[in-house]
Amino acid sequence: MMDLQYRLQDARMQRMFGLVREFVQRCGPLCPVNLAPWLRFVSPRWSGFAAVRDHRDALMTLFDELLDEHRAKAAGGGEGSDADLVTRYLAEHKGDRAAELNLVFILMDLFIAGSETTASSLSWALLFMVREAEVQRRVQRELDAVVGRHRLPSLEHQAR
Ligand code: HEM
Repeated sequence: MMDLQYRLQDARMQRMFGLVREFVQRCGPLCPVNLAPWLRFVSPRWSGFAAVRDHRDALMTLFDELLDEHRAKAAGGGEGSDADLVTRYLAEHKGDRAAELNLVFILMDLFIAGSETTASSLSWALLFMVREAEVQRRVQRELDAVVGRHRLPSLEHQAR
């Protein structure tokens, strides 16, 4: 999306993943404001609304910072590739504050939708493999045959 790669240990990435994880834990399906949205007016804190808002604001600040850095790089002539979403979007909506705010929401949507879902699917898959040794052996055999033990899996392995 931004032609950026981060290491998992990166402090900002850790903070972003931490915020999403905490958000999912605290604002899940049983959170009162998800069952009855009007509760936000009765008790913003107890209903969970304040937590949703605080997490949204904290994540927005981080994405704002990322966009500012992206703009600064672009101004210095070192912007990302033309193919990345943010570079193309900013070029098409130059100076349009509403469109830029919309971009922050698009980035947040994709980050939230794509991070905790993938992490928890992988955690469940690993848990089932701990319980089902035969399945674990079959997965290991397939990994050894298709990827090998000395490189990471990539999209090119998907078709095999
Ligand atoms: C194993 C990983 C994932 C799981 C289990 C998962 C699950 C889901 C489910 C169940 C929905 C439908 C929600 C509904 O309509 O009520 C959904 C929608 C969506 N997901 Fe994922 N997802 C995963 C990965 C991702 C990734 C990596 C991205 C993006 C980077 C993503 C972006 C979206 C978006 C944008 C929607 C909304 C689509 C729409 O407009 O209807 N998801 N996902």
